[in-house]
Amino acid sequence: MSAPDPTPPAGHPTRRRDLLGIADLGPDVAGGIDEVMELTDSFVEVSRRPIPKVPALRGKTVASLFFEDSTRTRLSFETAAKRLSADTMTFSVSTSSVKKGESLRDTVETIEAMGVDAIVVRHGSSGVPRQVARWADAAVINAGDGWHEHPTQALLDCYTIRQHRDSLAGAHVAIVGDVKHSRVARSNVAAFTALGARVTLVAPPTLLPPNLDGWPVEVSHDLDAVLGETDVCYLLRMQRERMTEALIPTLREYTATYGLTSRRADRLAKGALIMHPGPMNRGVEIAAEVADRPDAVIVDQVRNGVAVRMAVLFLLLGSGTEWGGDGA
Ligand code: NCD
Repeated sequence: MSAPDPTPPAGHPTRRRDLLGIADLGPDVAGGIDEVMELTDSFVEVSRRPIPKVPALRGKTVASLFFEDSTRTRLSFETAAKRLSADTMTFSVSTSSVKKGESLRDTVETIEAMGVDAIVVRHGSSGVPRQVARWADAAVINAGDGWHEHPTQALLDCYTIRQHRDSLAGAHVAIVGDVKHSRVARSNVAAFTALGARVTLVAPPTLLPPNLDGWPVEVSHDLDAVLGETDVCYLLRMQRERMTEALIPTLREYTATYGLTSRRADRLAKGALIMHPGPMNRGVEIAAEVADRPDAVIVDQVRNGVAVRMAVLFLLLGSGTEWGGDGA
């Protein structure tokens, strides 16, 4: 994946590598993604075995530090760590001493003192995983920070698209919905374009970032105009918990203009994929029945998430043992 950081933070001469954003995959982002994808192929094979477990990370400990709600990302990382035979430690804010006023730094130091090799962090504020990486010797993996990045989601999305078409080069991906508040969109734009895809953001102006300078994307406010020419229609949830003001008139109006209704889904080109990172709000950004169509690969995204996270954990913590063996 990324080249080792040439200047580890002072006091951490043996710091491990981190995955805080897509840029951490190295100066050659496409090459870094390819490396993860190749390893993921092997872990998909492991996941299909009757005993889907290998001893690759035996003796390592992976801690999850989730300051925000999560279903799939958290379970996915924990499953990935367990399938690699790592020990797992789960920290949930609602039942921790954070509720008693403990600071983030003290929390991280407490977890580190127990001897962990990786910390998987989700937080509502952008930049928290980077801050944790400054304090911790353990490898830090960003599981979503504010509106900033969600790199493992982007990797599993790349993998899922590649299962259906050989390459992302030349593919046209429409990312539809609340891009403004979406860390998934930011990581996906970086990953998809690094692999040669053309990306169009489709949203009302209020749901786009105020400044798109430097984003290698096209923008449209007209889903109907873009639909027929997309290879991937990637839908985003309205992230109301991150909104401080009313950005759309009503949900009904949003659905009428930007929702992937059955009628719109019928207009997608043959073979086009429908994707969503979850959690879905059926009936808002995606019609209930559209989410269950065969061309919707939303469940595949979740399934691939485990193997992709196994690959990431292995690349960051790889113990040098044979991981392709017959199971632990
Ligand atoms: C997303 C997240 O939390 O960033 N979900 C996920 O991790 N699969 C998207 C969202 O919250 O809408």
